[in-house]
Amino acid sequence: MQKERAQWSSHISFIIATVGSAVGLGNIWRFPYIMGKNGGAVFLLTYLLLIAFICVIPLCCELAIGKKYKKDTVSAFYEINPKFKWFGWLCIITVLMIPCFYFVVGGWILNYIWIFLAHHIPPDFAQYFSSYSSEIIMPCVLTLLFLFMTAIFPYRGVNSGIEKANNIMMPLFALMLVLLAVFALTLPGAKNGLEFMFKPDFSQFNKSMILIALGQALFTLSIGMGAIITYGSYMKENTNIFKSAYTLIFFDTLIAVTAGVVIFPVVFSFGVEPTAGATLVFISLPQIFTKLPYPELFGVIFFVLLFFAAITSGISIMETAIASFIQNFHISRKKATVIVSIIIALICIPSTLSFGLLSGVKLFDKTIFDLLDFTTSNLLLPFNTLLICLISGWFINSFTREITENLILKNVFSILLKFIVPFILLLVLIYGLK
Ligand code: TRP
Repeated sequence: MQKERAQWSSHISFIIATVGSAVGLGNIWRFPYIMGKNGGAVFLLTYLLLIAFICVIPLCCELAIGKKYKKDTVSAFYEINPKFKWFGWLCIITVLMIPCFYFVVGGWILNYIWIFLAHHIPPDFAQYFSSYSSEIIMPCVLTLLFLFMTAIFPYRGVNSGIEKANNIMMPLFALMLVLLAVFALTLPGAKNGLEFMFKPDFSQFNKSMILIALGQALFTLSIGMGAIITYGSYMKENTNIFKSAYTLIFFDTLIAVTAGVVIFPVVFSFGVEPTAGATLVFISLPQIFTKLPYPELFGVIFFVLLFFAAITSGISIMETAIASFIQNFHISRKKATVIVSIIIALICIPSTLSFGLLSGVKLFDKTIFDLLDFTTSNLLLPFNTLLICLISGWFINSFTREITENLILKNVFSILLKFIVPFILLLVLIYGLK
């Protein structure tokens, strides 16, 4: 049954696909609003330091585990030690929980593309958004449509599906982002927007900001669920782990910052509070588009851009689960894709409905959507990353050799991996539980 394992056809394809996985709603939707809520430039500075010196460690671990074992997440942890197999499955459960909010937002994006394309622009987006998201049929249909559109690519395979999708969508995504950034910089509020992002006001600094920045950094790099292990397992033998990790961090950060450069000048030009929160992208921003000369044009470009970002991450989410299903249940890729899609559909529906029909269903005072988002982002993500560091640091023989040959770097890496990063992750976890 064992076929030869798929491999990216070039190093560039590997980088594009991994950037496609990392760059998603986390960069365009979550990063700007979190930065807006947490003081702008000081947050950005904290974030940059954390991602460059702390998050790079688990990122390297996942890449190295993928490269060394060339297996899906569950099999890789099984091979490290059979007693860690459960942890592989925990990663898969985590990755399967992400669509509960990610694909729901994907469905909203499809709807927004449609309303801008069809010139059905509502006069008041705040009212529109709350009435649309509480409907029953349409949001569910569009969440499932988003799921279907995503599933097509892993269904077709690593090279002819996943790699192709990323190679086409990511350059288009970058082009649209640059276009929007150039436009945003010509707006009258551009200077204030840029000052908000880049001129630190150190009085804004606080402890909780560090933990929020760290949580965001882990989420945006797709760490803690085996996604990077899976994409890493398709990489070529001679790939340099350190270099790949920093390339990924560079692009992911560049895109998040550029998204800020698009959003904040717009926000400041039209007097919207940058602290608007999660609804920034679905209420404030489209409302502003209606005041621009060609609202349809901006609306379509922005939401198609968001769609590309979301779908390339969605593909990686699905592939992580699919790869493990293929290996561990001995089924074909096509069958695994169908099964994973059905599981995702079943958990996405209640989450989609939690804005309307099921809005009364609450656990710990949170709706289904909020609960799933909270559990994955604040609890499972830091917990899994903590275990990935501990397993790599303490249970894989001469693990640092996989990362670098340089003796000093090796020692620094080892200390960070075994002690410092786990300690910091533990703090994030405790904070998340509060
Ligand atoms: N990194 C993605 C983003 O920024 C979200 C994400 C988290 C993800 N974990 C993942 C994507 C696992 C793919 C696989 O939007």
